Amino acid sequence: MRIRDSVALVTGASSGIGWATAVRLAGAGARVVVHGRDRERLAALADAVGGVPLAGELADPDQVERLAAAALEVAGRVDVVVHSAGGGWAGPFDRMPAPEIGRLVAVNLAAPIGLTRALLPGMRARGSGYLMFVTSIAGRLGVAGEAVYAATKGGLDAFAESLRLELRGTGVGVGALAPGVVETRFFERRGQPYGRGRPRPIPAERVADVLVRSIAAERDDRYVPGWLRLPVAVRATAPGLYRRLAGRFGGS
Ligand SMILES: NC(=O)c1ccc[n+]([C@@H]2O[C@H](COP(=O)([O-])OP(=O)(O)OC[C@H]3O[C@@H](n4cnc5c(N)ncnc54)[C@H](OP(=O)(O)O)[C@@H]3O)[C@@H](O)[C@H]2O)c1
Repeated sequence: MRIRDSVALVTGASSGIGWATAVRLAGAGARVVVHGRDRERLAALADAVGGVPLAGELADPDQVERLAAAALEVAGRVDVVVHSAGGGWAGPFDRMPAPEIGRLVAVNLAAPIGLTRALLPGMRARGSGYLMFVTSIAGRLGVAGEAVYAATKGGLDAFAESLRLELRGTGVGVGALAPGVVETRFFERRGQPYGRGRPRPIPAERVADVLVRSIAAERDDRYVPGWLRLPVAVRATAPGLYRRLAGRFGGS
């Protein structure tokens, strides 16, 4: 996918992985439309990268629709969507408040599906586009204490995989990128800091580098760091062994 001169919409660009991705995409010559909720941070990012800020609450389906319409209105078209907005919640599942379940499903799963539904027709009509979903290693392995978060990310992976099959030959590519532990505000916001020594958190810029290179090369499935594919392979081929190891070393 040619990034130079493309129009790229990045959700969750007001922080973390989305922010670093918007900076990388702008550096690679894209016109960026940056989304988030924090208007001050969005404005600062838009100034820094010469982009257009669009604020919106993605837990609200109407605002998801409005975000798509506003992006098309300000930029004329959207060639690349990076679905990075998302959040977590950590703790025992039976203590998870129902509104938190609704928020995670809405923001992490329903919003990227809704945004895709609104922006895909234009891409199909032009025979070109790229949809990049930021999923998570949690969705591929499962994590104790993050059952709903993992379920939303696993669902997003399944959506991306299905769409990839459906869009074969249309010129519209679909990528999924599964990060491990990344140094962002994600942990403080989920209500529980990252409490393990290993794996060490990696910088958001490293994730953004891989993400933008994956779009350019149309690499459809990536892990950052790359070694994360190993536990996924062990789980797929030897689930009993995987669960014994995860019981000793797993958790968030
Ligand atoms: N950090 C990690 O270790 C890690 C690992 C695997 C996957 N991920 C995934 O990576 C993605 C980016 O997370 P991050 O680590 O960069 O976290 P972050 O720094 O907390 O950024 C999250 C972004 O999502 C936006 N967002 C959250 N809830 C929203 C809502 N209801 N409506 C609209 N926007 C909302 C935030 O907007 P405001 O700041 O403006 O509110 C912010 O821009 C998420 O999908 C996350 O699940 C993160």
